[in-house]
Amino acid sequence: MQKEQLEILLKDMSLREKIGQLVQIPGFMIGSGSVITGPALEMGFSEEDFYNAGATLSVFDFDQIKEIQDKFMEHQPHHIPLLFMGDIINGYRSVFPIPLAQGCSFDPELSGRLAAMSAKESAAAGLHVTFSPMVDVVRDARWGRVMESTGEDTYLNECFAKETVKGYQGSNLADAGSVAACVKHYAAYGAPEGGRDYNVVELSDRTLTDDYLPPYQAAVDAGVEMVMTSFNTLNRLPATGSKWLMRDLLRDTWGFSGMLISDWGAINELELHGVTKDGAESAYLAMKAGVDMDMCTPVYALNLQKLVEEGKIAEELIDEACMRVLTLKNKLGLFEDPYHHADQVKAEDVILSREHRELCLEAAEESCVLLKNKRDILPLAKEGLKIAFIGPYTEAHRLYGVWSMLGREEDTVSVKEGVEAIAQNNECTFSKGCRMLDPKYPLYEFHGRVEEEETDDEELLLDAMTKAKRADVCVMLLGEHPAHSGEGGSRGDIRIPKPQRKLLKEIAKVNPNIVTVLFHGRPLDIRGVDRRSKAVLAAWFPGIEGGNAVARLLFGESAPSGKLAMSFPYNVAQVPVHYDHFTTARAFNGDITNRFQSRYLDIPNDPLYPFGHGLTYTTFDYMSIEQSGDVVTCDSPVTVSVRIKNIGNRAGTEVVQLYIRDLKGSVVRPVKKLKGFERVTLEAGEEKTVTFTIDHEMLKFTTADMRFEAEPGEFYAYAGGSSRTERHVTFTFAG
Ligand code: BGC
Repeated sequence: MQKEQLEILLKDMSLREKIGQLVQIPGFMIGSGSVITGPALEMGFSEEDFYNAGATLSVFDFDQIKEIQDKFMEHQPHHIPLLFMGDIINGYRSVFPIPLAQGCSFDPELSGRLAAMSAKESAAAGLHVTFSPMVDVVRDARWGRVMESTGEDTYLNECFAKETVKGYQGSNLADAGSVAACVKHYAAYGAPEGGRDYNVVELSDRTLTDDYLPPYQAAVDAGVEMVMTSFNTLNRLPATGSKWLMRDLLRDTWGFSGMLISDWGAINELELHGVTKDGAESAYLAMKAGVDMDMCTPVYALNLQKLVEEGKIAEELIDEACMRVLTLKNKLGLFEDPYHHADQVKAEDVILSREHRELCLEAAEESCVLLKNKRDILPLAKEGLKIAFIGPYTEAHRLYGVWSMLGREEDTVSVKEGVEAIAQNNECTFSKGCRMLDPKYPLYEFHGRVEEEETDDEELLLDAMTKAKRADVCVMLLGEHPAHSGEGGSRGDIRIPKPQRKLLKEIAKVNPNIVTVLFHGRPLDIRGVDRRSKAVLAAWFPGIEGGNAVARLLFGESAPSGKLAMSFPYNVAQVPVHYDHFTTARAFNGDITNRFQSRYLDIPNDPLYPFGHGLTYTTFDYMSIEQSGDVVTCDSPVTVSVRIKNIGNRAGTEVVQLYIRDLKGSVVRPVKKLKGFERVTLEAGEEKTVTFTIDHEMLKFTTADMRFEAEPGEFYAYAGGSSRTERHVTFTFAG
């Protein structure tokens, strides 16, 4: 449709109809035969509002989507198609690693390909919009939603934001296989106080601007079609009612012209936050602030018309919002093809295709992080070893996180299956060893309690101990339950559950050769695991090819190459912990006799494993670091070149990282900031020079007088294989 036709359509729509476009109804409230259900009526939706809705979410069955689309279009006075939205976070049926694991690949281009694959499957099955990527910067491992982000670093999140948006949307939204991306949660949802989900966020203007906002802006720059607000208050104002965030910054400053949707029920929650007195005030505040669509509540449906009639809200505001919804539908080509090329046969063809499974495997391998590998216990020999695989994740098929609503256990390769496929010449045994969860802490998923099979704990332990005693190596497969992370998944104790800690302790008594593989949605406190294991592999929730990926990495069919996108704290008392902290006037210098320094008396300041850390099966020597010059100006950058050599005896991949430190500023500056990275694969003995360009844009920050600029002065440029690197050159910025 041409823009003029859209305008004609808009003019012809009644106010009620236009408001309808600003309403999203939850899929579960659409009854069979696409009729309104009791819960929708109870919530306050009338039948007219219901069929006037602009969108729905979480309907995944193609036949149902088609039936709903037909029925709603028939009822809608102008036969306007619905938008079908859903949370396809890390894959549709071809489930790949959770976003935090993807962050550890330091391979945004790979995530772009994963997003494109996810879009292809989702679109073939009838979806138009995915509520992804989440680009909230996350520094507190207690918060369960860290799993949905690509980590603690601003720049890394920016890179992933751009590539995933491009991957989902392709070059033309109307094409088959494209879906609209929705970046979330705007803004700063990743910094809830105390790591407790939905809690308040208090950030200084500088921290917000320099650290938290850039990834959302990167998504906007990449052309993201939708933005979702966040549940949290930001410096006392609910984000969903913040005109400054949405109209002033997002639209006027960043130039976002797409559609803004509230998070689930967030307009309604303005009242619960205590900033509005009823639904009418909430609708008023959100509409004025710029929220186009109300997710899953009837607040807009019930209040906007009256607000317009009373002259409190100009009809032009409704028109603008409605036009944005119609524009997205038009870009998707829904007026011509309301199913957006979806069809069941095509869906069956692409979903879980061989090509897709291979990509899931590649991603799972790249996302695992080898935290430790004492005396090169890994990789394990492929023959002649007696290996006991022990732990609740040994035969588990649920290797995907809570958001993988379409993930299926029968699609997923367990570690046991992965091992059996490649290690036939070893004597492998498998045992569960213990239950996964501590029965003292009941765990609830999105739809009810997690029920664990009843087990005889003593018998499980005995079986594992017997096998462990006879084995040369024990591979422990341990971790959190998927429901421990994700929305509503905050934890105050970020260790693996108690039965598993006990199991590891017992096994360590009879066999010192322990390799631990962890499955998890957040960085954990792994002091106990670390102490008892010679090697630790962080596998996160790796997706349907997880079992194959882990087995291949353990036996050296492939080599780990991931680096932590989020620091593993020493323990929970340290969080929030991140590598780009500020320097303090009393920074700890290691002298414990001096009490008056910034330190804990009983734990270290440094995380156990920092951002950027990750080992592989070979060693890289950083031979030299050179610079093309030592003065950066506004017109002339300098380059920093690092020469690295693979000095081990097998090929390997290193993520070479560039960090910059600004030595003096008008405000305090972080000790280091990631500004570049490159994945480099080298054969044994091979060398390569990696070159980074440093320009003045990279040196900008919010200064004492709130300007975003680079200040003249001295800088260090560090290059190395983790954020702990000390190798650097010096340069100045001359202005
Ligand atoms: C979450 C969003 C999600 C939405 C729709 C909310 O509870 O915070 O991330 O996209 O639900 O499912």
